[in-house]
Amino acid sequence: MNYKTLLIEIKDNIAVLTLNRPEKLNALNSQTLIDLDSAFDELKNNDEIFVIILTGSGEKAFVAGADISELNKLDTISAKDFSKKGQAVFDKITKCEKPVLAAVNGFALGGGCELALACHIRIASENAKFGQPEVNLGIIPGYGGTQRLARLINTGRAMEYILTGDMINAEEAFRIGLVNKVYSPDQLMDKAIEIATKISSKGQQAIRFSVKSVNSVNEMSLNDGQNFEASLFALCCGTEDFKEGTSAFLEKRKPNFINK
Ligand code: COA
Repeated sequence: MNYKTLLIEIKDNIAVLTLNRPEKLNALNSQTLIDLDSAFDELKNNDEIFVIILTGSGEKAFVAGADISELNKLDTISAKDFSKKGQAVFDKITKCEKPVLAAVNGFALGGGCELALACHIRIASENAKFGQPEVNLGIIPGYGGTQRLARLINTGRAMEYILTGDMINAEEAFRIGLVNKVYSPDQLMDKAIEIATKISSKGQQAIRFSVKSVNSVNEMSLNDGQNFEASLFALCCGTEDFKEGTSAFLEKRKPNFINK
């Protein structure tokens, strides 16, 4: 399918989804949210795709935030809807059972930082800059940022970044656990593909159950989460891939997963 604001390239079970409004630093307007929502449905339902990489077009930005020209028109009624719509799209990304890796190639501000936070794994280029600068505009993060940032890097740090609006450079983002790895800009996509290829080589049922189980940490108590883990673990043990993976180990050969 073709999208107005996104490019999708599919190769070797990996989909690279590029936010494509470079002249506006890939700022998220309502069309981008509509496109992201449909694209994730499409990618979820395409059996050929195992892993999704999300990145931004151009050399400057992943996403420089929600589109401020649209924000500027909001009032109290429309703003709630605006926030809920964005949250729903980002929740869809987090709940996607196929791993979603953000390759952050520049500014990831406001909604851009929140978009990266909604992904399962984040890697960044050395020129990446994260931040929740909404207070500079007289608002707070509205696409899940207060919740996801606080859960990922702890409430004290999240509070500081949200209250000051300060940008977080790649080195600091790595130090505080906001991103997993930092690469030079020209290495970033190769490294993203390398990680995605490694994940693609595993049994995909186990990969999807891993995503679901780790995601449940934000929704369940430890006890409920462990029960959920045990159920998914049990389901894994009913798959062909479980038989293949364990047999291959015992027979000292590489597994040949069929993803069933
Ligand atoms: N919404 C709408 N347009 C945006 C945007 C956003 N969030 N971020 C950047 N743009 C647009 C600029 O208006 C400019 O468009 P123009 O050429 O038609 O004037 C274009 O993208 C390039 O941005 P510019 O500001 O000229 O680039 P820069 O390198 O000088 O600065 C930033 C880069 C990211 C520091 C700056 O664009 C910025 O502060 N953006 C807003 C960040 C923000 O507050 N995001 C949170 C929103 S909730």
